[in-house]
Amino acid sequence: MPREDCTDPTQDTKMCDGGHLPVAKQQEIQAEAERLVKAGTYASLGEALFNLDLGSGNYSCARCHTKGWSYGEPQITGGGAFGPNLTGGSSVRQFPNQEDMIAFISAGSEYGKKYGEQGQGGGRMPGFGAMLTQDQIKAIVEYVRGL
Ligand code: HEC
Repeated sequence: MPREDCTDPTQDTKMCDGGHLPVAKQQEIQAEAERLVKAGTYASLGEALFNLDLGSGNYSCARCHTKGWSYGEPQITGGGAFGPNLTGGSSVRQFPNQEDMIAFISAGSEYGKKYGEQGQGGGRMPGFGAMLTQDQIKAIVEYVRGL
């Protein structure tokens, strides 16, 4: 991450030192998601972020949670692939408390560490807390809880 990005006056320098994406990148992610909502591709910001193509899907959830997404033949959104099925209200059952789900997605899963009601962390899901803003994560979580 280029250091200059962390000296932007609008930047919270302390957090940037902690290793989050440069604000410019987070703004690019936000702008792209907003554009897709405006274009009618997705109905909400959370849905757009979940499915974001930007950066080959590096910032998205769909690349792991939607079968076929990575090769352009997406099946049921959030229906499960490398990552578990998130549909049918399963994420609400796993995380009855929305705040716990936000915390899990921010931190990612840790090998051998329990999460939610009955999740067993495989350490295979990255944390998004350093990549997306808390508002973006909240929007995604609200979307996923409705799947
Ligand atoms: C690199 C692949 C990958 C990405 C990207 C990813 N996940 Fe995951 N996710 C997983 C895996 C794998 C698990 C299961 C825990 C484990 O094995 O580490 C998981 C677990 C979960 C769970 C718990 C599901 C349950 O019922 O146990 C939720 C909710 C979730 N992910 C949501 C998301 C959201 C929202 C995003 C995007 C912000 C996302 N994931 C991005 C791979 C991924």
